[in-house]
Amino acid sequence: MSAQESYNELTRICREVALIYSSYAVLSWDQHTYMPPAGISFRAEQLGMLSSTGHKKFTDPKVGDLLSNLEQSDLAKGDTPESANIRELRHAYDKQTKLPTELVEEITKTTSMAHEAWAKARKESDFSQFEPWLAKVINLMQQKADAYGFEGERYNALLDDYETGATVTDVENVFASLRDELVTLLQKIKDAPKQPDKSIVERPYDVKLQEIFGKSVALAMGFDFDSGRLDITTHPFCTGIGIGDTRILTRYNPNRLNDALFGTMHEAGHGLYEMGLPKDKYFGLPMSQSISLGIHESQSRMWENQVGRSKPFWEYFFPQAQRLFRDSLGSVTLDEFYGAINDVRPSYIRVEADEATYNLHILLRFEMERALLNGDLKPADVPGEWNSRFKKYFGIEVDKDSNGCLQDVHWSAGLVGYFPTYTLGNLYSAQFFNQADKELDDLEGQFRRGEYLGLREWLREKIHQHGQRYRANDLCKRITGSGLDHKPLVTYMNKKYGDIYGF
Ligand code: CO
Repeated sequence: MSAQESYNELTRICREVALIYSSYAVLSWDQHTYMPPAGISFRAEQLGMLSSTGHKKFTDPKVGDLLSNLEQSDLAKGDTPESANIRELRHAYDKQTKLPTELVEEITKTTSMAHEAWAKARKESDFSQFEPWLAKVINLMQQKADAYGFEGERYNALLDDYETGATVTDVENVFASLRDELVTLLQKIKDAPKQPDKSIVERPYDVKLQEIFGKSVALAMGFDFDSGRLDITTHPFCTGIGIGDTRILTRYNPNRLNDALFGTMHEAGHGLYEMGLPKDKYFGLPMSQSISLGIHESQSRMWENQVGRSKPFWEYFFPQAQRLFRDSLGSVTLDEFYGAINDVRPSYIRVEADEATYNLHILLRFEMERALLNGDLKPADVPGEWNSRFKKYFGIEVDKDSNGCLQDVHWSAGLVGYFPTYTLGNLYSAQFFNQADKELDDLEGQFRRGEYLGLREWLREKIHQHGQRYRANDLCKRITGSGLDHKPLVTYMNKKYGDIYGF
């Protein structure tokens, strides 16, 4: 078989695998939107069948043989879409074939029981119920890392599942500098003379009108409703189902504007990335897929924060919001509103955190899960360690474990190494936005006039159209001239909060 024939055969197999996973995605979307509750166990059977079929097809030794042939050929050389596909398929194939079946089964079984124990422990705010399960999960994660193999420390092997190619060495210094800057910033905000009135966004906001407003914002961002949908769910997400089909989900709170508004912008940001990937040309291959969770999150966070929480954006949209929500916003000024959507205060719960404190929540988790995996922290010591770090970073005492180390689902689900991608997303979003601002003509002026397609096109050209051609840190270097860096995010926050809080 010639190299080109091997490549075509590999492409054909990958397309079939991707068709299976995209069918999974449709069923999973349906499960989170319209499926009647009684359908749950049948749906689980459908999803289980699809995922094991997809896994079997992709981990077939034939795929390994095709890859080995191709790696000897010219197709694997140089900076081309073909060589990127071969490189990333090899990476995925090795990872998926390295885990022994018994370990995968053990992880599935243990995490499903750990999840139940965690849910009960959280409800009763009793860590001792979860502790033995956390110990089991960490032990399995250590085995998983060992099966993958790693350089440096075990954490690298797990981080790579979510952020391909990233290592602890790449991120730890950036994260530590960010943490110190954020602690200082929070103190300044706490001591500031001006404090926004957050209650402005915590008034009645008609849900139908919120939906109209959210859709018009998504449209202005360039979210294409001919190849996308917006629906309602309890835990919002975005799913790129396939060619011409991207779905985003949000939830509405009749007494808070922020949840659905910024949630919709966030998911539409993910959606624009999915829509901008070259799926027509490369469906099924890495060139049609997002780079990493961190890069995906950089897209959503940029639209949510750098755009959606900016003053120029609201200079255009606030008069519209006032007309729609006359009772709640009629007598509010733009500055008051801008302050309210940018209110910062320490709080226990990560998912409810503001833009500034959010990363501290993540950094705490990153430091702790790394220590757990290395064996430097015993599961039994998690609450104590959590609470003392929390006090140091946020300046407040944790009152109970359900507001502390028991709040997140991740560890019970075996998602160790996942948390850093949230902060990576925030860091990359600031770096990319900084660069867009330099390259695009009067970006603030564009926002003020309600023009957002310039930014969308820039993101398409620089990021979306490349699929997995470059890994995250390399892409960042190509676009901005430097790798991961905490400074753009810190500068952006200091300027913004300095204006709002008057320091
Ligand atoms: Co997101």
